[in-house]
Amino acid sequence: MIKAVRGTRDLLPPDTDLWNRVEAKVRDIFARYSFHEIRTPIFEDTQLFSRGVGEETDIVSKEMFTWEDKARAQSEKAQLLTLRPENTAGVVRAYIEHGLDRQGTLQKLYYIGPQFRRERPQKGRYRQFYQIGAEIIGPPSAGSESPARDAEVLEMLATLLDEVGLRDWSLQLNSVGCAEDRARYNKALREALQPVVHQMCADCQRRAETNPLRVLDCKHPEDQPIIERLPKISDYLDQPCREHFAQVRKMLEALNVPYAINERMVRGLDYYTRTTFEFTHGGLGAQSAVLGGGRYDGLSESLDGPKAPGIGFAIGEDRLILALQSQGEQPAEKVQAFVAPLGLGTNGHALTLARELRRAGVSADLGEENFRLKKSFELAEKAGAQYIVIVGENEVASDTFAVKNLATGGQVQVPRSQLVEYLRK
Ligand code: HAM
Repeated sequence: MIKAVRGTRDLLPPDTDLWNRVEAKVRDIFARYSFHEIRTPIFEDTQLFSRGVGEETDIVSKEMFTWEDKARAQSEKAQLLTLRPENTAGVVRAYIEHGLDRQGTLQKLYYIGPQFRRERPQKGRYRQFYQIGAEIIGPPSAGSESPARDAEVLEMLATLLDEVGLRDWSLQLNSVGCAEDRARYNKALREALQPVVHQMCADCQRRAETNPLRVLDCKHPEDQPIIERLPKISDYLDQPCREHFAQVRKMLEALNVPYAINERMVRGLDYYTRTTFEFTHGGLGAQSAVLGGGRYDGLSESLDGPKAPGIGFAIGEDRLILALQSQGEQPAEKVQAFVAPLGLGTNGHALTLARELRRAGVSADLGEENFRLKKSFELAEKAGAQYIVIVGENEVASDTFAVKNLATGGQVQVPRSQLVEYLRK
């Protein structure tokens, strides 16, 4: 038997009803905040990610699905292509490629779609997973660097999670400063780690060499006391970065968006500058980050684009759904009416009636003429129908239908001309 590949999974009904409900809700919210959808390809030139996300990151060094495309001509070199592990680099590439900076305004873009990382699969971690993300990017003259953008994005996320019905989320906030701040901080970390790193886990020993910031991410209990004594990023921010972060915090407080500062939150992508954040949820276990994001003021320039500071986030949709389900969220979309033909020759009449209902906007499921009434009732219950409409010979002759409310058990006769109105009640 051929099975779905490790780390990938099929999404089936009724779960997909919950996925669709969440997606419809977030599209509505994005529109309210004046974001528009962007759709970029699912694979890109590998260099986009090695340069954009960073050669030293886990994503680029270990987790990408990359292959060599066949050269089209002998003279051509084969191109390396990669299934996108994230979508910010693709959005910024598209921004540059289409000269969106020339519009002079902020671009507020959102996307919903699959991403691919070769990670060790576990609950909440898949090799094909889905992100709902958004980016605000534009020239500084359009206000792209303003702390108000950070606050706007974070406030939107708080509203979004509230409106999809997620309870008890928490926002972890940090500032990683600008590139120079981080260089100084990295140097300080290296120096502080040097005398103690031999007491730490193998991962920390490697990271102390390649990317000392990642040491802060270590979960090993024995390493925690050492990590607690390491220098703090906040002491290495320059004055403008410090002021920017203070403004973001002030605005969040004015907006009543609760947050906690977490100086150990280092995001796994190299493009971040200044504000970084994650929203976590207790119902998720080890993979507790429902979403992550932050500023990337230098990303466009590092991809040979114009100066175009930006900020954005990506929600792990799989995790958002898991978190909603952990709260007991019910996925199934209910159908309003179940049309039950009863007796030979009634299928056509039932189809016609169902067509009338459906075209009038009433959702309807349909039975089969040779089913006994008992079976039709069972199917109607299973479909979660509010009403069952019986289409038997007598009903067809009189153009009046027996309608039973499945919740209350009450039954009435409703003329065809009043049926839509009755079912809508
Ligand atoms: P990220 O933190 O790598 O950021 O991913 C964002 C979210 O995607 C995570 O918080 C998590 O919920 C979900 N996620 C990541 N990997 C997996 C996986 N293997 N399985 C299931 N869910 C996963 C980014 O991707 C940035 N592009 C976010 C961003 C946008 N920053 C600025 N703009």
